[in-house]
Amino acid sequence: MQKSQVFQGDCLDLIPRLPDTSIDIVVTSPPYWGQRDSLGGGTEKDPRNYIKFLKSVFVALLPKLKQCGILWLNLGDSYNTPVNWTAKDYKYSSLGPDQSGFNPENSAYTKPRFKRKAFIDDNFGWLQYGNFLMLPQRLLITLVESGYLYRGEVIWSKKNAMPEGRCRRPHRKHEPIFLLAKSEQHSFRTNPPVPSVWTFSNESINGIQHRSRFPTQLPKLCIDAYGRLGSDVVVLDPFSGSGTTGSAALQFGCTYIGFEIDAKQATASEHRLQKIKKQMGLNFSALGVGTERQSEISQNGRLEF
Ligand SMILES: C[S@@+](CC[C@H](N)C(=O)[O-])C[C@H]1O[C@@H](n2cnc3c(N)ncnc32)[C@H](O)[C@@H]1O
Repeated sequence: MQKSQVFQGDCLDLIPRLPDTSIDIVVTSPPYWGQRDSLGGGTEKDPRNYIKFLKSVFVALLPKLKQCGILWLNLGDSYNTPVNWTAKDYKYSSLGPDQSGFNPENSAYTKPRFKRKAFIDDNFGWLQYGNFLMLPQRLLITLVESGYLYRGEVIWSKKNAMPEGRCRRPHRKHEPIFLLAKSEQHSFRTNPPVPSVWTFSNESINGIQHRSRFPTQLPKLCIDAYGRLGSDVVVLDPFSGSGTTGSAALQFGCTYIGFEIDAKQATASEHRLQKIKKQMGLNFSALGVGTERQSEISQNGRLEF
């Protein structure tokens, strides 16, 4: 039986250490552009650098997928607006009832958030102020040009979406989950067929606090759609966070590999997965941080699982 593990580190360093053709299913949700002040990707000033970062992660993953493998990518888009407004921003936006900004104490100005501004480049129409940036679509196009097959899109219809305030645009109550593959021969459940709209709620957070955790139902449906379960099915999340993909994988008796740059999250997620292992009698190897983990990286730098 293979061992499930969370490795702490940058997925860009860890992916090349995976054996080629070793991964059946990737289920992942990278940080969305400019939403959070966190380690790793998502904090690039220029959204083009964000796309470059994600492209290099997923291109590095392609040889690691088995021929029958699939990749589920949950990635939301961003507006080209500040995420932390200041009173001065009324100059280039139309905030406030008379378009001259809000009161200084308005929560739009006072909410503690990552400090991203709009990124404007007059030479590129899509980098105008206020534009919905189509970042997932831009990434998908570069991935398909790099060898992936784009196999479909699922809409996660959120039962309890967050309100978006007063804005002249549709309030988002959904997120996309894209399906990519290495080969047209990839595994997938056909009976019953997998629908393209999945409706479920966000989970209330119990245990590990992670601000952008997805509900367990999401990776469960993604893994279940593969059509095969069991310990020889290896599931990877290169942006593992609190280990929700791992939780779903272990509950299905699959093997899980997670990469997470934030040491606190990596350790907390290991504990979460150990508990599940205990409940299910599975072979989850909790590696902790530091030297213990190094023993699982062989002399030639390959990850053993
Ligand atoms: C949107 S969260 C994933 C949440 C996860 N799906 C869950 O349910 O907990 C993205 C995660 O990617 C991590 N991350 C960002 N850049 C990374 C990198 N280069 N390598 C590994 N992890 C990274 C962040 O620390 C964050 O925990």
